[in-house]
Amino acid sequence: MVTSPLPPKQLFFGRIAYTLSSRELFIHKRAAIGVDGFGIIAFLDDTVSSAEEAAEKYQFQDADVTLLSTSQFLFPGLIDTHIHASQYPNCGIGMDLPLLDWLYKYTFPLESSFSNLEFARDVYTTVVKTTLKHGTTTAAYFATLHLEATNLLSEICWKLGQRAFIGKVHWLSNAKADDQKVCMTTLAPNYYLEKSEEESLSSTRQSIEYIRKIDPQFSRISPIITPRFAPSCTASLLLELGNLAEKECLPIQTHLAENKRETELVKSLYPESSSYTDVYDKANILTKRTILAHAIHLDIEERDLIAKRGSGVSHCPASNCAISSGIARVKWLLEGGVKVGLGTDCSGGYSPSVLDAARQASQVSRLLPDPSKSRLSLAELLFLATLGGAQVCGIADRAGSFEPGKCWDAILVDIGEMDYWDDSSILQKWVFGGDDRHIKKVWVDGKLVHENL
Ligand code: GUN
Ligand code: FE
Repeated sequence: MVTSPLPPKQLFFGRIAYTLSSRELFIHKRAAIGVDGFGIIAFLDDTVSSAEEAAEKYQFQDADVTLLSTSQFLFPGLIDTHIHASQYPNCGIGMDLPLLDWLYKYTFPLESSFSNLEFARDVYTTVVKTTLKHGTTTAAYFATLHLEATNLLSEICWKLGQRAFIGKVHWLSNAKADDQKVCMTTLAPNYYLEKSEEESLSSTRQSIEYIRKIDPQFSRISPIITPRFAPSCTASLLLELGNLAEKECLPIQTHLAENKRETELVKSLYPESSSYTDVYDKANILTKRTILAHAIHLDIEERDLIAKRGSGVSHCPASNCAISSGIARVKWLLEGGVKVGLGTDCSGGYSPSVLDAARQASQVSRLLPDPSKSRLSLAELLFLATLGGAQVCGIADRAGSFEPGKCWDAILVDIGEMDYWDDSSILQKWVFGGDDRHIKKVWVDGKLVHENL
């Protein structure tokens, strides 16, 4: 039998930064990282003084060596915990309306076009290439309610090498007769709606099987159960989905308490629940691997319930500003023990960049009533963009930081003009002034998936 040789080991030497918690930002000026032939980090060592010394110490003499210049640094790949791949063509468009009107006027017409597979291929290829270029090594994607187009997105993520969670959206009308004015006319256009719970569940099962054929262990691309939000589901569909996630050991993503009118609507649609969060809890939707996008209008009981269930929040500050949703209290969530990561929420948000989401998170954190308590530090912002996101997606054992045993999901940043600045200033300049032009290389699972030289 002929066994194929392992890909070469890789050895990097230079400035290396990462977080290990929201309070711990490490910046090593001169350190070595070794990546084995399986794309796994073998060592990180800041005591060696050269690549040669590291190579000898770890028997990495046969590795491909990259020596970073003084204007470069390595950082863990960025994690987008909430992005609508299908809404990418609308980024920057339609920021004149709040959520429910925005969905009806701009979002559903666009999403309904994903019945056209050529259009879907074009948009999804652009989204994955663009987010990789911006350093997104993991993305949690909402697709649309179309099975074939969702399968295409899975195929494209697989081929282009991104780590991704891909969810076929569930979208039934939960409207009751007396809600029709609020709900049917503004929320559920008949051209973009699943016909029955059975159809909705069956196409999700098929999208799971499709991914299983491509990546049987769901090691890089994984299905994610995606009830759009409570108003687009019935209580029984939510429960079926909670049970399906448990049976298949799958993550879940949905929206929670983004907008005041939406939370009022949920109250009227689910009178038996004590809160919006309780609607999901009653349906077993709040798991350790559930991503709750926005989570703005919560009371303390809801926050504590989310923390108790171990679910995470995707903070989407650009979207929260653009469609006037409000300001999520990130420090308050973190202090309550809730996991938090960042989401671009394209196209509620206008930018596909997680770095931009970090910048916006910083800005809005200063606008809450007591900025001395709510302002996010540099370490917190960088944590949210990487390890925080990995915790929310349930992949902190694999991604989000540079610890031996984790996958080499990383970016090489070159911000230029570094000689004047200390290490912390370099990272601040990147967070507040950087963009995709500064991201020179991107790796996922040890493989180079984007290069901009
Ligand atoms: N709530 C339900 N659907 C959506 C969506 O597509 N975008 C945002 N921002 N919120 C939602
Ligand atoms: Fe969203």
